[in-house]
Amino acid sequence: MKKISLTGIKPTGKPHIGNYLGAIKPALELTKTHDARYFIADYHALTSVRDKKLMKEQIYGLAATWLASGLDPEKVIFYRQSDIPEVFELTWILSCMTPKGLLNRAHAYKASVDTNTESGIDPDSGIDCGLFNYPILMAADILAFSCHVVPVGQDQKQHLEITRDIAQSFNQTFGKILTLPEPMIQEEVKTIPGIDGRKMSKSYKNEIPLYASPKQLKKRINQIVTDSREVSESKDPDNCNLFSIYSYFAANEAVAEKRKRYLAGGLGYGEMKSELFELIDTFVSEGRARYDELMADRQQIDQVLADGAVKARAIATPLLTRVREAIGMQ
Ligand code: ADP
Ligand code: TRP
Repeated sequence: MKKISLTGIKPTGKPHIGNYLGAIKPALELTKTHDARYFIADYHALTSVRDKKLMKEQIYGLAATWLASGLDPEKVIFYRQSDIPEVFELTWILSCMTPKGLLNRAHAYKASVDTNTESGIDPDSGIDCGLFNYPILMAADILAFSCHVVPVGQDQKQHLEITRDIAQSFNQTFGKILTLPEPMIQEEVKTIPGIDGRKMSKSYKNEIPLYASPKQLKKRINQIVTDSREVSESKDPDNCNLFSIYSYFAANEAVAEKRKRYLAGGLGYGEMKSELFELIDTFVSEGRARYDELMADRQQIDQVLADGAVKARAIATPLLTRVREAIGMQ
């Protein structure tokens, strides 16, 4: 029997090439070896997205991105978190097994408290219970589907530890019902830098969108920050985010050749940017065409997600029945 893998992404902005290389592509590889499940963590996005139109747009955008990037809904289960009521029932049940102290130590909450404390204001100022309870909802996402592995970025490792703690505590009290998941953290996918050299992230607004029009893509690539060395000058490939992004897309020989020309001088950043544009544009062209087609026919996306929800609930419903029986609710 194949192991079960599951992962979710929040619809919090337009997916960028960092999301693709760091999360979407490696997660989709698992389709070959695992019984794979993918979902759109829309209720997790509610901690930051407070605009109805934007929320809808981002949910469709993320669904279209998964599908355009190669997710085959015939082979895997693909659904939207908010279509699975069992996840939210399990969230409450698990919250009753979760020590508050465990959540006090969760990175995102702790970071907000630390910022407030440093600014001399009330530690919980501006923090809602959605942010505080976020790890329990994530635990329910995972535990409702009895999965074995969860591919995530390094930043999500603590959430997996919290999930395991909660599952263990439930199982100790009520019997071995919940499956303890293992995180699957891809060491070889490094952090893709953004146009300013920091980690590419929507929160830094330094991202290169994945399925943007060629015109937008070109504009963004031209905004990649470099130093002001002249064409003729020797340049440092190891401290250049343009070179670094280029190396994720170009063939090894091309990267080696560019490295030589960087060091020797005679290669301008303008030329590098044009080449990077050609590379990314070619790389995304097929996916972008599919993405545009899906975004123009949202009923197609609705149908895929509705079918996925039926398959997903067929797994979550019996699990919840067992949980309810175990706690004396049924
Ligand atoms: P963002 O930082 O843009 O808000 P998210 O936190 O929504 O991105 O990340 C979604 C997924 O994409 C996570 O699994 C995360 O590890 C991965 N990811 C995000 N940015 C990068 C990056 N710059 N390089 C590699 N992976 C990334
Ligand atoms: N918290 C994850 C992130 O920010 C998204 C997520 C929500 C998730 N539920 C999940 C990932 C369950 C894996 C499994 O990236």
